[in-house]
Amino acid sequence: MDVSSIDTPAIVIDLDRVEANIAAAQRYCDAHGLALRPHVKTHKLPILAHRQLAAGAVGITAQKIGEAATMVAAGIDDVLLSYPIVGETKLEPLSRLARVTTRLSVALDNAVAIDLVARAAAAAGRTIGVLIEFESGRRRTGVESFDDALALARRIDAAPHLRLDGFMTYPLGEGAGEWVREARARFAREGFEAPTFSGGGTPDMWRAHETPGLTELRPGTYVYHDRATVGAGAGTLDDCALYVHVTVVSTPAPERAVIDAGSKTLTSDCIPEAFGSGYGYVVEHPEAEITSLSEEHGVLDISRCERPPAIGDRLRIVPNHVCPVSNLDDRVIAQRGGRIEAVWPVWARGMTR
Ligand SMILES: Cc1ncc(COP(=O)(O)O)c(C=O)c1O
Repeated sequence: MDVSSIDTPAIVIDLDRVEANIAAAQRYCDAHGLALRPHVKTHKLPILAHRQLAAGAVGITAQKIGEAATMVAAGIDDVLLSYPIVGETKLEPLSRLARVTTRLSVALDNAVAIDLVARAAAAAGRTIGVLIEFESGRRRTGVESFDDALALARRIDAAPHLRLDGFMTYPLGEGAGEWVREARARFAREGFEAPTFSGGGTPDMWRAHETPGLTELRPGTYVYHDRATVGAGAGTLDDCALYVHVTVVSTPAPERAVIDAGSKTLTSDCIPEAFGSGYGYVVEHPEAEITSLSEEHGVLDISRCERPPAIGDRLRIVPNHVCPVSNLDDRVIAQRGGRIEAVWPVWARGMTR
């Protein structure tokens, strides 16, 4: 069946491009001696996680326990949880995850999380690895001082079911390598080893080898790419593997067209000014701009289009930020050369806990 016959709005991925993106990242990591641990929050599909592992990835990264559990239920057993685990409600789900994985690790930046993970590991009778998250420019989570990192290391060391694995940061700011070098030296003085240094996201992934001491790369968006990663220079529009297929439902004024995808499909995520404007890139009409969204309407300024879109036209949109987009529909249509090859339920969709 031809992909142009599916109902819209629809999330459609190009399998040739997905496979090329997976292969390119693996080639890069192999060439630089980096372990690749792709973040599955972008695609949320066990089938693509399996393809990433088959290409050579050492395991997966997941943000939430539910997302990880979905992957583990599909046979994936080496998981890094890169989001802080805090709150009594996480105890039992984490413990369950520890029981069914071969290798489970977590990244955290505080003692409260350590104590919870230690209890979950003890309850499961398993060892959980811990990466200490440090701040390298994003100003989100992550310890900022060596003393704080050392205090966490001592606490991890004192917990019988925890194993200190090393360091994690996101994305991979300037100076991250030097930070880890100094932290490792201080840790060594107390007898702590910290062999793993996990970092990175898609925008800076091709420069990851310039960070001294890095052992593992964790990109997620690279599997599909989007307008933001293209703007950042990590890929080109030809690498973009996920399009939102839409239909023009109204052209109420000469300068305006309306498509059947709004914030419930494209999300309201903006894009840095330097990378473009509007709520997505319209492949068939690059001069058009998606100027506003309501839930199910996308309003296009078509005043600069020489041949403006007409009612009923089908268009393809490259989202500004692809990760939340793939979380917004139950299914993804996988096409190759314009022919539908599969329709996959997005198994980890909505797994925000
Ligand atoms: C902790 C962590 N690691 C890795 C990634 C993957 O980054 P990207 O989507 O830029 O590839 C993210 C993205 O949010 C993240 O939060």
